[in-house]
Amino acid sequence: MALLDILTYPDIFLTKKAKPVVNIDDALNKTIDDMIETMYNAPGVGLASTQIGCNKSIIVFDPSSGENPKSLTVLLNPKIIEAGGEIVSENEGCLSVPDFRSDVIRSASLIVEALDREGKPLKIEAEEYLAIVLQHEIDHVNGILFIDRISALKRELYKRRIKKQLKQGDDK
Ligand code: NI
Repeated sequence: MALLDILTYPDIFLTKKAKPVVNIDDALNKTIDDMIETMYNAPGVGLASTQIGCNKSIIVFDPSSGENPKSLTVLLNPKIIEAGGEIVSENEGCLSVPDFRSDVIRSASLIVEALDREGKPLKIEAEEYLAIVLQHEIDHVNGILFIDRISALKRELYKRRIKKQLKQGDDK
């Protein structure tokens, strides 16, 4: 296994929609194992393929952050087929959006269809925190970051801060 580099905003790859997985082969399994290791090492609650520069639709997440081995989940081609209600995701953050957190309005409950890593179809019903994690990671494979879901003003402040940091880096 190997640790992968996590792309950060404003990397253009983070805005690209991932393509469906059609072949579950050794290379894909290695990518999945590396994503899991990278997520726990970061540490993060979830990681999506687009964050490591892979354009196949894969998400891994563990809402228990490694406390409960059973809560590690790998989903291929995840898709939200039903969403309802509203919940505020407090202080949401992302490994690809360093040093920034914000409240995000999310759906309170979801039904998600996906394949497991063996290719078996799954249907997941999720509420509250699990629903938030799923929406965040499924957004990633659709090329969406949580900063795309906050107010334009807050987003601009973050973008300006990053631009300034990048410029200061160039001047060194
Ligand atoms: Ni994220």
